Amino acid sequence: MKNVLVIKSSISGDNGKSNQLIAHLLAEGAAAAVSVTEIDLNLNPVAHLAMDEIASWMTPPADRTAEQQALAAVSDDLIAKVAAADAVIIGVPMYNFALPSQLKALLDRLARAGVTFKYTEQGPVGLLQDKPVVFALARGGIYANGPADSQVPFLKTFFNFIGLTQLHFVYAEGLNMGPETAESALNSAQAELKEIAKTLFA
Ligand SMILES: Cc1cc2nc3c(=O)[nH]c(=O)nc-3n(C[C@H](O)[C@H](O)[C@H](O)COP(=O)(O)O)c2cc1C
Repeated sequence: MKNVLVIKSSISGDNGKSNQLIAHLLAEGAAAAVSVTEIDLNLNPVAHLAMDEIASWMTPPADRTAEQQALAAVSDDLIAKVAAADAVIIGVPMYNFALPSQLKALLDRLARAGVTFKYTEQGPVGLLQDKPVVFALARGGIYANGPADSQVPFLKTFFNFIGLTQLHFVYAEGLNMGPETAESALNSAQAELKEIAKTLFA
């Protein structure tokens, strides 16, 4: 049985195009034996990272106060979910030329020195076991491979840093550029997801 972790960050719920692409990918895998764990950041947001939470990470578990235990549990739980997954699927809307801040807040919990990365004399080393990560990117305009795409370069750097290198970026772009452009973008993204599903759920 494959464990798949789904992370949604659209503020539009079922109308969110990134969420619809995730649903399409999961439907492609419906016939496979897949256990899905879902985090919907629109329904269950993670707070902005603050120093008291970082301090809880730096405090040895046995020495943590009750408050620090609760704070550290936020990141511990998210890292455990990523570690337990055979594959991760992430919805990435573009909001104001960037990741949704909801998603950034979650990623801030995944970068933990000594847990998901460490520094060596040769540079940083990711500590998570590598696994496929599929990003469903939904955008009103068109940015792929251009200088205004702040999302994909950041996501590559971030996920490589924690040890995840099998990254698949599926773009649905031009969604606000008229119904024909939107339909064509969604169709081609769905076709790409269909191909990815063949190996992701195998
Ligand atoms: C607050 C907000 C900001 C947006 N900013 C951008 C943007 O900077 N560039 C862009 O191409 N589209 C932008 N859009 C359009 C979204 O990228 C598009 O609606 C996409 O479908 C969002 O993903 P979702 O449907 O999964 O939420 C924005 C939409 C919203 C609601």
